[in-house]
Amino acid sequence: MNALPPPLDPAALGLVRPDAAGLGALAAVVGPDGVRTDEAARAAFGRDETEDLCFLPDAVVVPASTEEVARLLALANARRWPVVPRGAGTGLSGGALPVAGGIVLSLARLDRIRELDLENLTVTAEAGVVLADLQARVAEHGLRYPPDPASRDSCQLGGTLAENSAGPRTCKYGATRHWVLGLEAVLADGTRLVTGGKNRKDVAGYDLTGLLVGSEGTLAVLTAATLRLVAAPRTSLTLILPFPTLDGAAAAVAALFRAGHQPTACELVEERALAAVGRLLPLPGTLVGRAAMLLVELEGDDDETLLGEAAALEELVRDLGGDEALAASDPAEQRRLWAIRSKVGEAVKGGSIYKEADTVVPRSALAELVRAARAAAERHGLQAVCYGHAGDGNLHVNLLKGDLPAALWRERRDAAEAELFRAVIGLGGSITGEHGVGWTQRRYLPLRHPAAAIGLQRELKRAFDPRGILNPGKIFPGDAETAPGEPC
Ligand code: MLT
Ligand code: ZN
Repeated sequence: MNALPPPLDPAALGLVRPDAAGLGALAAVVGPDGVRTDEAARAAFGRDETEDLCFLPDAVVVPASTEEVARLLALANARRWPVVPRGAGTGLSGGALPVAGGIVLSLARLDRIRELDLENLTVTAEAGVVLADLQARVAEHGLRYPPDPASRDSCQLGGTLAENSAGPRTCKYGATRHWVLGLEAVLADGTRLVTGGKNRKDVAGYDLTGLLVGSEGTLAVLTAATLRLVAAPRTSLTLILPFPTLDGAAAAVAALFRAGHQPTACELVEERALAAVGRLLPLPGTLVGRAAMLLVELEGDDDETLLGEAAALEELVRDLGGDEALAASDPAEQRRLWAIRSKVGEAVKGGSIYKEADTVVPRSALAELVRAARAAAERHGLQAVCYGHAGDGNLHVNLLKGDLPAALWRERRDAAEAELFRAVIGLGGSITGEHGVGWTQRRYLPLRHPAAAIGLQRELKRAFDPRGILNPGKIFPGDAETAPGEPC
């Protein structure tokens, strides 16, 4: 297969694509089976889970150790090759897409849990460990590593670190960054860097750990991390709260926190998303035709306390016009209720090409956010479907193409999305709550940050990666203007 020209011209960024001799040099570092240039590999590593986008890399390289990562980066830096670090490719903002061609660097072989420290309640694991495996391992000891992105069964730790991933439990526990005590990383020139460690407190100098978590593969390649653990709660209760109005559901979110509840998760699914999931699985009758539902997860150490909390919550919800709740404490029943929320993405995105905007606003503006999303979409003849992490004010807004011709879809999508993000900023929000800026949101960064703040971030990028080899084209808008990318 001939490579399609990358939509970002590497030459405009001072970069070059590896030639045959370069590929040979890569093989000398990782061995011939650590470099793949076949069509299947390039196509598979040319996409992630971001919409229908695909960009072909020149090669996929799979090192087996931090030492090999360091040697690869030293080589790539000397030759100015673009390098795109990659976990399992479950990202939703195009962070792992090789938009300037070059090398995709898969961390999949760095898959060891190096140490579980039961004295200090930490785990040190490599970037390629699957998140669910890490969580299962610590759960054997009654412990929890809380971050729970929707992709946790397949995503790799390194990807979650690079994206500062979140998920439903962020509501109680905070996102990935809150759980990282230290990192092992490799800088663009091959220098190895260790930040933090097992100390719970450490204010010696700038917080490089905090900076690298969420840097989306643009500052360094993260190869391992030391993570904080907590005791897993002994019991839990899942509540589904149906509402006849969106305003009632939004008011309930604010009210339940104000009343002192600390749910592990507080998720919202509005009526169009409910209708979509109802096409995928049977919905309980009480949800059919409802304007919105909340899913609230309560956790604790004894059932009685949880039941008392649930009763108080249900009363609060009824006062706000909510309907009778569905409750489950049996794990199989809990999974059935959770499926209504966890299948939403698949249900909404499965039937059409779509564009997902990862919006976040202060909790009090949730209902306004949904209205603004619907209005922006409708002004351009599109539909907006919303769901997400209401407890964090973080809703995923999906615009659907349906049977619109491609050119018209692109035009309307871009106009509606830009309007939506302007409205989000007007509500005091941001252009991404958890999916990252990556490739798809970069053009909106100036809506979120003034030029001085973007300038400072560019300076940081230059300090870490003077030649700009790491994940070029991500986060910052207008490095060199780009085509949106096409299916391949
Ligand atoms: C979710 O909350 O379901 C995930 O972030 C994935 C998605 O947006 O579909
Ligand atoms: Zn989400």
